[in-house]
Amino acid sequence: MRIARPLLVLLHVVLETRALRYSNGYYYQTIENSKGNGEIYFNGVRLHVESPQMSVSAIQGSNVTLPCHYRYEPELSAPRRTRVKWFWQPATGEGREKDVMVALGSRHRSYGGFRGRVRLRRSVPGDASLVINPLQVDDTGRYRCEIIDGLEDESVTVELEFRGVVFPYYSPRGRYQLTYQEAKEACEQQGACLATFQQLFAAYEEGLDWCNAGWLADGTAQYPVSVPREACGGKELAPGVRSYGLRHKTLDQFDAFCFTSSIRGEVYFLEHPLKLNFTEAVEVCMQDGAHIAKVGELYAAWKFVGLDQCNAGWLADGSVRYPITRPRPNCGPPDPGVRSFGFLPHHLKYGVYCHKVR
Ligand SMILES: *[C@@H]1O[C@H](CO)[C@@H](O)[C@H](O)[C@H]1NC(C)=O
Ligand SMILES: *[C@@H]1O[C@H](CO)[C@@H](O)[C@H](O)[C@H]1NC(C)=O
Repeated sequence: MRIARPLLVLLHVVLETRALRYSNGYYYQTIENSKGNGEIYFNGVRLHVESPQMSVSAIQGSNVTLPCHYRYEPELSAPRRTRVKWFWQPATGEGREKDVMVALGSRHRSYGGFRGRVRLRRSVPGDASLVINPLQVDDTGRYRCEIIDGLEDESVTVELEFRGVVFPYYSPRGRYQLTYQEAKEACEQQGACLATFQQLFAAYEEGLDWCNAGWLADGTAQYPVSVPREACGGKELAPGVRSYGLRHKTLDQFDAFCFTSSIRGEVYFLEHPLKLNFTEAVEVCMQDGAHIAKVGELYAAWKFVGLDQCNAGWLADGSVRYPITRPRPNCGPPDPGVRSFGFLPHHLKYGVYCHKVR
């Protein structure tokens, strides 16, 4: 900020004649901080910091840009040495804000788990948007873009959340066989995690209708019903997400609602001349330099890549499924979805879905 000082003085002189108010013929250099609405005033020049988006959602494994722009009013003819700092408050857990990166001119530095993954976009003057590439599993939370000019700073915050897909999951042992911990592990084994209520509610709004209660991350058991029916809590209840409330984590057993937001790599139906039993299915994916796909990976490919394949295939958990984005005759129900045959005996012969990390 050593360079900023003389500039401030110069500005003062230039602007004094037109913009500044006098008090008893004496210029009083106050700095009014407008308390976090993204602008400060100094010497009659106003620094605005703004973001067109308060929240951004993105898919894990992709890249994301968190917008932040600053400008001076009136516009300055000479560029200023403005320092940009990004902070991050994780969505999980409280704790202090962590440093993400700091940039001054062409020099910049990133911190912790962000090292090597973040940069400023700088597409136009005043663009301090943060680009994160690739986005990792723990990156959600509140980001704060701080612009520092001399002794002053102003900031805006941008929430980052994952766009994902929620899917119901049950144990190979049958319905309602999972304790909370088992449900959590079951989701993790499928490349996912337990869904939050907000995620389940968003999925319900997009049409998820499922008549079996599943654990959510907060320890409640709930299920989404968009078409009320007798078999599903009764016809007279309104559509909605129905809750059994907080349940006992070790004594109560339900299914699970898992959430995944990852498209790292590629999921594909392996072209193979023969149908395969489960053992062979695992084997041929390995021979193809891949792994047999997890349920969460298949859902993510269906939702975000539009994977559409009218062939049932083995998945890593011993279930058989296929993804349909363009419903058509002989490919299951009239709505898009991942069709499931459930868990099948391992000697039966099907195709296979593999997952390859590029
Ligand atoms: C970032 O993501 C967009 C799509 O969202 C893609 O077109 C672009 O190539 C990606 N950029 C990098 C550097 O990966
Ligand atoms: C699958 O087939 C192979 C022979 O290709 C056999 O050795 C294996 O036991 C079979 N696995 C199952 C689960 O039936």
